[in-house]
Amino acid sequence: MNLKLSKMACGNLYLLLIILFGLSLNVNGHLSPNFYSSICPKALSIVKQEIAKAIKNEARVGASLLRLHFHDCFVNGCDGSILLDDTSTFKSEKSANPNKNSARGFGVVDNIKASLEKACPGVVSCADILAIASRDAVVHYGGPTWKVRLGRRDSFTANRSAANAFIPQPKFNLSNLTSSFAAVGLSFKDMVVLSGAHTVGFARCTSFRPHIYNDTNIDPTFAKSLQQKCPQNGSDNVLQPLDYQTRFRFDDKYYQNLLDKKGLLHSDQQLYNGNKADCFTKKYAMNQGVFFKDFGKSMIRMGNIKPLTGSNGEIRRNCRKPN
Ligand code: HEM
Ligand SMILES: *[C@@H]1O[C@H](CO)[C@@H](O)[C@H](O)[C@H]1NC(C)=O
Ligand SMILES: *[C@@H]1O[C@H](CO)[C@@H](O)[C@H](O)[C@H]1NC(C)=O
Ligand SMILES: *[C@@H]1O[C@H](CO)[C@@H](O)[C@H](O)[C@H]1NC(C)=O
Ligand SMILES: *[C@@H]1O[C@H](CO)[C@@H](O)[C@H](O)[C@H]1NC(C)=O
Ligand SMILES: *[C@@H]1O[C@H](CO)[C@@H](O)[C@H](O)[C@H]1NC(C)=O
Repeated sequence: MNLKLSKMACGNLYLLLIILFGLSLNVNGHLSPNFYSSICPKALSIVKQEIAKAIKNEARVGASLLRLHFHDCFVNGCDGSILLDDTSTFKSEKSANPNKNSARGFGVVDNIKASLEKACPGVVSCADILAIASRDAVVHYGGPTWKVRLGRRDSFTANRSAANAFIPQPKFNLSNLTSSFAAVGLSFKDMVVLSGAHTVGFARCTSFRPHIYNDTNIDPTFAKSLQQKCPQNGSDNVLQPLDYQTRFRFDDKYYQNLLDKKGLLHSDQQLYNGNKADCFTKKYAMNQGVFFKDFGKSMIRMGNIKPLTGSNGEIRRNCRKPN
């Protein structure tokens, strides 16, 4: 392989694989950007308005909603399962380890759902609300836009142990991260580019403590300053921005931080640690436009994970419980 070809390995070769993968994922998808255009023409504008209102009220909540969509899709597909409260027959995904004291934004979903039910009762699924809200939040923070595919339906149940098993953890190394994305049909590149969502929002001390005390792939001054805010004992719920430079701006600073060894989570810094991901991280750090383009594509791919369509599932009237 000549130099030119091997250089393409980080870009075009993967792109080709992704296109092939994407086609195979879409076969069962049946999602469409125009799904609501005749049955609830105002759906998209209602969500957009509600998101603008919600982020104005609390700047962080758009990040929280983006994370809900991710945690929804990784557990039996994008089916709104993360939104369900405990019932007598199942334990909620909200109470699973990755979500406990951490997943948030449920009140905003309730508000969006209430507005949609007023305009078009029983039409727009909770799973689709998360997909649309994620896109609108990213746009609101200054990030890329994409055509959200729609027509997902909602699950009847949630599965707490599946949430524990399938949602990747901050202690994961590169191979663990890779396999947890592969387990839901997403590629290595999807993993690197979707991690760029950590350009907005916060993590709790408990999520990054081992990284700032025990890891060596971290800038020592950065680690020291975080140790001041996150002592060895206590303060588990103290928050720090995932992107220390621009916490409410969707940009490529996340990747630039990684080049400086200033990733907040152990899992973040895995993406620039002398391995296969470095090539992507450098590319995205150098070129925000490429990051934006790839991020939109991978969000569509994540949103296509095992949706319920046709007569499967239901349109929940209240996102917190099955009808
Ligand atoms: C690659 C594997 C990933 C791991 C290990 C991971 C882990 C985490 C952790 C530990 C937190 C902080 C939780 C807390 O302490 O309360 C977090 C926050 C967040 N994650 Fe991830 N994440 C990953 C991928 C993603 C993806 C793919 C997205 C979306 C596309 C995403 C979006 C977010 C956002 C926006 C926040 C901030 C939420 C807020 O401020 O409320 N993450 N993530
Ligand atoms: C819940 O998920 C776990 C782990 O993936 C699986 O073993 C179990 O069968 C699921 N439970 C139900 C009721 O589907
Ligand atoms: C990832 O971590 C596991 C332990 O959880 C370890 O066995 C493995 O060697 C690590 N892989 C890499 C590439 O660091
Ligand atoms: C992480 O990956 C290693 C192999 O690299 C594996 O032995 C270990 O079980 C994985 N851990 C998790 C939690 O997936
Ligand atoms: C750091 O590593 C030591 C030794 O493995 C362990 O006892 C300690 O709990 C770790 N500290 C954190 C914050 O993870
Ligand atoms: C943490 O708490 C334990 C007792 O719970 C104490 O022995 C230890 O010195 C404390 N460590 C720090 C760094 O404060």
